[in-house]
Amino acid sequence: MTGGAVTGSGLIVATPAHAAAFAEIHRLSFDDGWSAAGFGRMLRQPDMLGLAALDGEDADGVSGFIICRFAAPEAEIVTLAVLPARRRRGIAGRLMAAAEEFLRRSAIKEWFLEVDAGNPAATALYEITGFKSVGTRTGYYRSNAGRRDALIMRKELGSGLD
Ligand SMILES: CC(C)(COP(=O)(O)OP(=O)(O)OC[C@H]1O[C@@H](n2cnc3c(N)ncnc32)[C@H](O)[C@@H]1OP(=O)(O)O)[C@@H](O)C(=O)NCCC(=O)NCCS
Repeated sequence: MTGGAVTGSGLIVATPAHAAAFAEIHRLSFDDGWSAAGFGRMLRQPDMLGLAALDGEDADGVSGFIICRFAAPEAEIVTLAVLPARRRRGIAGRLMAAAEEFLRRSAIKEWFLEVDAGNPAATALYEITGFKSVGTRTGYYRSNAGRRDALIMRKELGSGLD
């Protein structure tokens, strides 16, 4: 996939031009929002895949995004978020399916992520998309409310022919 290529289902391969929109959605989704500059740097890296979900035809109307880092045979989800007002419409599921298709074509065999064990929406999403918990990092996340554990989750991607 090249920058800006449309992947179907209202998804597009992200470019640094999406950094500000990603930072805004991230800020609305997490206690420790990441900066637009940080997203811009990430989206310039050749080992990063960013996908944006668009609202209709408007390229600025980003409703969600996923960023994955990949280095065959492994990849990880760096971050994933959907605008609060657009949740439970299947956007994250579509972003994950499109990212998975790209990763399978890029010879990725194992896909990992870390998720806050106290984030039921994300853990439910990852479980229904086939990730299995393979470990815990105790007290990995810090917040004003204290420390929380991270679940490490893994999905085998196999040959791409299954
Ligand atoms: C987690 C998140 C990305 C899900 O995005 P979404 O677009 O609402 O997810 P989808 O609509 O594709 O949901 C797919 C499935 O995941 C599960 N799911 C999603 N949100 C859920 C919730 N709040 N509670 C329980 N299950 C949930 C459901 O099984 C859902 O299918 P259903 O709606 O048919 O029941 C979104 O809630 C979000 O941005 N949260 C804040 C950021 C975050 O936690 N990111 C992930 C950690 S890195």
